[in-house]
Amino acid sequence: MSENSELDVLLKTEQTFPPPPEFAANAEFRDPEVYGRADADPESWWADWARDLDWIEPWESVLDWTNPPHATWFDGGKLNVSANCLDRHVAAGRADQVAYHWEAEDAGLEDEPVTGVGSDAGGRISVTYGWLYEQTQRLANVLRERGVGRGDVVGIFMPMVPEAAVAMLACTRIGAIHNVVFGGFSAESLKERMESSEAKALITADATLRRGQPMPMKSAIEGALEDLPAMETVVVFNRCGTTPPMKAGRDIGWTESLEAADPVCEPEAMEAEDPLFLLYTSGSTAKPKGIVHTTGGYLTHATATHRMVFDLKPDDVYWCAADIGWVTGHSYIVYAPLANGATSIMFEGAPDFPARDRWWEIVERYGVTILYTAPTVIRSFMKWGEELPAAHDLTSLRLLGSVGEPINPKAWLWYHEHIGGGRCPIVDTWWQTETGGIMISPLPGITTTKPGSATRPLPGISAAIFDHNGDEIEEGGGTLVLTRPWPGMARTLFREPERFVSTYWEKFGPATYLVGDAARRDEDGYFWIVGRIDDVINVSGHRLSTMEIESALVSHPDIAEAAVIGIPDEHTGQAIIAFVIPNDEATGDSSDELREHVATRIGKLARPKEIFVTDDLPKTRSGKIMRRLLRDIADGKELGDVSTLRDPTVMAEIEAQVGEKDRT
Ligand code: WT7
Repeated sequence: MSENSELDVLLKTEQTFPPPPEFAANAEFRDPEVYGRADADPESWWADWARDLDWIEPWESVLDWTNPPHATWFDGGKLNVSANCLDRHVAAGRADQVAYHWEAEDAGLEDEPVTGVGSDAGGRISVTYGWLYEQTQRLANVLRERGVGRGDVVGIFMPMVPEAAVAMLACTRIGAIHNVVFGGFSAESLKERMESSEAKALITADATLRRGQPMPMKSAIEGALEDLPAMETVVVFNRCGTTPPMKAGRDIGWTESLEAADPVCEPEAMEAEDPLFLLYTSGSTAKPKGIVHTTGGYLTHATATHRMVFDLKPDDVYWCAADIGWVTGHSYIVYAPLANGATSIMFEGAPDFPARDRWWEIVERYGVTILYTAPTVIRSFMKWGEELPAAHDLTSLRLLGSVGEPINPKAWLWYHEHIGGGRCPIVDTWWQTETGGIMISPLPGITTTKPGSATRPLPGISAAIFDHNGDEIEEGGGTLVLTRPWPGMARTLFREPERFVSTYWEKFGPATYLVGDAARRDEDGYFWIVGRIDDVINVSGHRLSTMEIESALVSHPDIAEAAVIGIPDEHTGQAIIAFVIPNDEATGDSSDELREHVATRIGKLARPKEIFVTDDLPKTRSGKIMRRLLRDIADGKELGDVSTLRDPTVMAEIEAQVGEKDRT
């Protein structure tokens, strides 16, 4: 294909991309002095950003870092997040401004946007700041009446609808801590996260649309809810008009309760360091970590980075195409865009429904100016062909973003050419659930980009590459660390303060944050993220723990032992491969059943791509599974030293089994 050779030529030339002159001329940040200014005094840099927010009480000190890794940002300050996202815009006369142009998965091409209704109306709706303001206050009052208040944890398990944002905002209004669980997770995963966060309420929906059909949510989790005695209230939003079972005394309907509720709810004055939300993410063990983010620092970091990285302007139509269930959705669909008063797109469905040009139809329809998505999606678009975006007018786009995993230069160049028309800067943004907001990224009006590199830490952020001894590597590869506190940093792990310290802050001392990624720094000081160095797999930008999948596999009655690895995958970045040892009673070939078992335990995204049934696994004499060797086999690599294995002959057997499968 000519397409490929053109890309290959570009790849070989290692072309770099300075900001286009017109873009740079109009960018809010166009002078590189901003880096020096922020570095010289990071505290006043962040304080300046914090001053853009509405504070009920001013802070007394910007940062207390006398007892690392425990940071206090904006101590003494009081604010309310929902008031920053809604009240101040309404007060400034912007109640009628659109916060979200929302599209139902099954919106027809002719559907006209409707204002003043919720997503249960389907089709296309224009959600204004005024509407969000009213819905949020009503829901906040419903929660309050049910005894939910400051410091209580509320679960949110919702489809991609504006009501999910309302649910989050309503929690922040009354000082409750939300714990959003991605709608694609299983009932088991939801239960585990509700249990360990001690949630007393849950906000969910009857169903979500998938390829035109309602896929049940509430009835799918009914059994899990029965096992949660602490769950006092379940608010059910009726997205699809199905009729899930409702338990008297516990379950209440969204529409009826909101209609009956007082439309005015005074925002709670929260301390800057009060927890804002929990978000569970996979780590190196089977047990997910409950990342705790707080109020003032998080909102400062999210809003500041959103403005800097996306060069946000009042007339932008901004589209972060993530899901609200991940941190990207929290920071860059809900909190930063709303606090910054932006107009966003929110889309309920998948990029290929009803057709593979759905996104380009949306970009054209609304005149989207900024698009922020993940490399895995870009690679799908590449596969589907450039004719699809070419058939739409995408000239409204002025900036593109990438997040979630390293973007391969080929996908970067394709995105630049076929989506950005060669004219839009690309911001490859590196960050994590734990960092709260973007940390390493170009500033689009300043940074010359190199395809595949997230470039440099943002102003005020300090990152480095360390070797095993904790010595900095100026140029070369090693482990990525963050060497200065930042306002959006996670403060702890919910109910696991020691695990917080030991996971992130022990290896190189209590003031150095261990990221868990390997990275390289080049001669220009640019960072190139390689990938995870812990037992975490990144599938399509979603973080999964090998141990979590292994424990799901061994929970199947047929399986005695399991080892899970991630291998490179052209489309999903990494793919999950499992090696399982059946127990003596196991019957027949159960690969498909096992994959479904994992889907039921964790969620569809954790389903292994391939399962190999073996008689043994490579273990050291102390019994530790050597995943490195399994990875070599799966990659078809020469095996390295196997002499440390308890039984070196197992490798030949596994190799034979894998080879067998490859031929069939
Ligand atoms: C891990 C964090 C950040 C929101 C989505 C994922 C990988 C993330 C990039 C990027 C290379 C990236 C890292 C990181 N990652 N962005 N631009 N380039 N790698 O959040 O689930 O907390 O995962 O995603 O490995 O540690 P998460």
